[in-house]
Amino acid sequence: MERTGIKYILLMEPQEQEITIEGWVRTKRDSKGVSFLEINDGSTIKNLQVIIEENFPDYASIVKSITTGSSLSVKGNLVASPAKGQKVELKASSIEIIGETPPDYVLQKKRHSFEFLREIAHLRPRTNTFGAVARVRSAMSFAVHKFFQERDFVYVHTPIITGSDCEGVGEMFQVTTLPIGNPPVVNGKVDYSKDFFGKQASLTVSGQLEGETYACALKNIYTFGPTFRAENSNTSRHLAEFWMIEPEMAFCDLHLNMDVAEEFLKYIFLYILGNCPDDMDFFNTRISKGVIDNLEDIARSSFVRISYTEAVEQLTKAHADFEFPVTWGEDLQSEHEKYLTEKIYGLPVIVIDYPKEIKAFYMKLNDDNKTVRAMDILVPRLGEIIGGSERESDYHKLEKRITEFGLDPADYWWYLELRRFGSVPHSGFGLGFERLIQFVTGMQNIRDVIPFPRSVKTLEF
Ligand code: 4AD
Ligand code: MG
Repeated sequence: MERTGIKYILLMEPQEQEITIEGWVRTKRDSKGVSFLEINDGSTIKNLQVIIEENFPDYASIVKSITTGSSLSVKGNLVASPAKGQKVELKASSIEIIGETPPDYVLQKKRHSFEFLREIAHLRPRTNTFGAVARVRSAMSFAVHKFFQERDFVYVHTPIITGSDCEGVGEMFQVTTLPIGNPPVVNGKVDYSKDFFGKQASLTVSGQLEGETYACALKNIYTFGPTFRAENSNTSRHLAEFWMIEPEMAFCDLHLNMDVAEEFLKYIFLYILGNCPDDMDFFNTRISKGVIDNLEDIARSSFVRISYTEAVEQLTKAHADFEFPVTWGEDLQSEHEKYLTEKIYGLPVIVIDYPKEIKAFYMKLNDDNKTVRAMDILVPRLGEIIGGSERESDYHKLEKRITEFGLDPADYWWYLELRRFGSVPHSGFGLGFERLIQFVTGMQNIRDVIPFPRSVKTLEF
């Protein structure tokens, strides 16, 4: 069986020897005495044109049986193409129809909305947009590993089922084998000692805490895996199941952490521009005009770095018409984040030193006792894409913070022990993989950059 992808065939010179290609029919156009097929095999966004001439054996019946969506194996000669935009085309000498497609196939010529395509997530990868997203997503996963592996970071697999709440905000999906309708109860409370793990368990919201244990032994580590959040945020930037990349570095303060994050983002942008030129060209012309220039500009620039307090001052001075007021002590809303990066600076912005009340318990407390060594990276079009911090490395301060958050230090005994034995300043961050893909492709809705989106009230597949 011939396995050369159409991506490579399109780069070949016309040749005497016959070749065989396999793929799906994107369109068929019948002209007088000749039929043109556009064949796609997923290796590239580009199609290979196949010519069936009238003298082809059984011309009329074979042309009739080939419909949009059917899968074919085609043998023929690669000849110079007179058509614009392609060097070669395939003149068919034999065709095997592998799978036919009846007329009720929804992906006929008509263009469909992304909302509709979400309902047919099993077929949408056959469209140009979703094929391109899938290829970029795959290349980007590779680039993530490449970046960290080239820098000797160790890839750590942190657990998906966990007994601790990393972000301490309780937006977790429970994992249980107890009968939901009739769980064992003691003193009016569910008795989790009878549950599978003998205690309450959840799907992880972040691999950070477990990641820290390995950073405190191997110095530089990263995780890259699925994370789950039961937050009721029905926006174009939130999923209930998303992928996160979390590097964690020992002997590392907040400033080095920011440097790594900035270098990492730029590396990914340049990798995709260099390695996915056809797909990026598609996004640039069809999805988000100017996205290529935008990524190139950002890769060449220095990110702005400001404190939360400065951000609040800038936003207050702006007198913009915000839905939510800007007040010191309140979290920045997405509208504020976008205003900072799009309107005030026109660049990615790293905001540091947030009020301790609005950030997680594990962040290092500043000397002012009011703010923590947090950093969020905000980008145009999306707002927050990265959240990170320097971690509290002092045992007593951390224990106090855990208590202040209403959490039980006993549940975090192993996390606290990292601060008793050879404690070290360490920092890390989390990058939402789907938000990164949104930013690079210009796709507006996060549900369209993951193959099977899970969000509030949506679980079709
Ligand atoms: O800011 P977050 O909550 O940070 C953490 O989880 C830390 N433990 C990370 C760390 O320091 N190791 O989440 C990090 C990033 C966000 O900036 C965002 O890009 C993404 O994860 N994210 C989501 N992406 C899609 N859907 C959601 N519901 C998301 N929640 C967070
Ligand atoms: Mg965050």
